[in-house]
Amino acid sequence: MRRSLLVFLVVKLLIITFLIHSVSTLISLLIEDGAADAIHRAELPSPDSSLIEQRPQIIPKIIHQTYVNESIPEVWQEAQQSCKDLHPDYEYILWTNKKSREFIAAEYPWFLDTFDKYKYAIQRADSIRYFVLAHFGGTYIDLDDGCNRRLDPLLSYPAWVRRTIPTGISNDAMGSVPQHPFFLRVVGLLQLYDRGWVLPYITVMYSTGPLFLSVIWKEYIAENPTEAGRVRILMQDEYNRYSWSFFTYHVGSIWHRKDARVIFWLGQHWVLLIICGFVIAGAVGLCLWWAYSRLLLFGSKYRYQYSKVSNLGFPR
Ligand SMILES: *[C@@H]1O[C@H](CO)[C@@H](O)[C@H](O)[C@H]1NC(C)=O
Repeated sequence: MRRSLLVFLVVKLLIITFLIHSVSTLISLLIEDGAADAIHRAELPSPDSSLIEQRPQIIPKIIHQTYVNESIPEVWQEAQQSCKDLHPDYEYILWTNKKSREFIAAEYPWFLDTFDKYKYAIQRADSIRYFVLAHFGGTYIDLDDGCNRRLDPLLSYPAWVRRTIPTGISNDAMGSVPQHPFFLRVVGLLQLYDRGWVLPYITVMYSTGPLFLSVIWKEYIAENPTEAGRVRILMQDEYNRYSWSFFTYHVGSIWHRKDARVIFWLGQHWVLLIICGFVIAGAVGLCLWWAYSRLLLFGSKYRYQYSKVSNLGFPR
């Protein structure tokens, strides 16, 4: 009896260790604040500063955006136009479905099958942005992000992404030089992460979305990349809070639909989801243990009674 309890505990410990090991990156993401790579506000010239001219600009002057086709819905036209107007000297590329597929077929044929078979259109929209950044470099901007000032100061870094609260990074605005090791790794790992996770939302988040990107990022920075391989972090204030921030958040985006708002909420709270998962797993484990200990107790009572009966009834 003692031994079976020991076996049970050891097995359980192994399972827990395995689970913790498999989500260790997720757990370490919870406490990663990106501070070591943050772009400090003191080093960012103000919008009209003469310092902007003096900084080297290594990211190519290209703005990438994605949409189904060329007919951008009215709600996003203003945001789109604000970026175009502020950057007349930048190349502007809208990656429509057709253009994206042609690009993957021509340049990354090994990915075409995965690209075509993605279950959700958003997975294609997510993945194409990593490919075009790895390939051409430039700045990717979601259609619902408007531009508030020129991007020039951000062109000084080999790559940048933006921090999200409470954890991780987002894929809605990012910049990079061509062939940056981080984005090369990201495109190289897309196929490995192309798995279904029952809930569409989690599947999208973890196969191509911000959670996928955050996990790769966390593993990447743990390897202490060289200066040229660094991924700098744009913090929330510099992202869209103030008049000197780079972007504006445009109301009237898809997040105003009710289902989208739920998804958005979940997106902001995926940490909570993971913690819930652990609590549920813990509760299930406890129930199992309780059931198992009842069984042991029942077994020992039975054996005890049986031995009494056998001693009394059948004297040797
Ligand atoms: C573009 O895509 C939208 C959304 O799927 C669709 O409603 C619209 O008809 C398309 N426009 C063209 C010109 O194909």
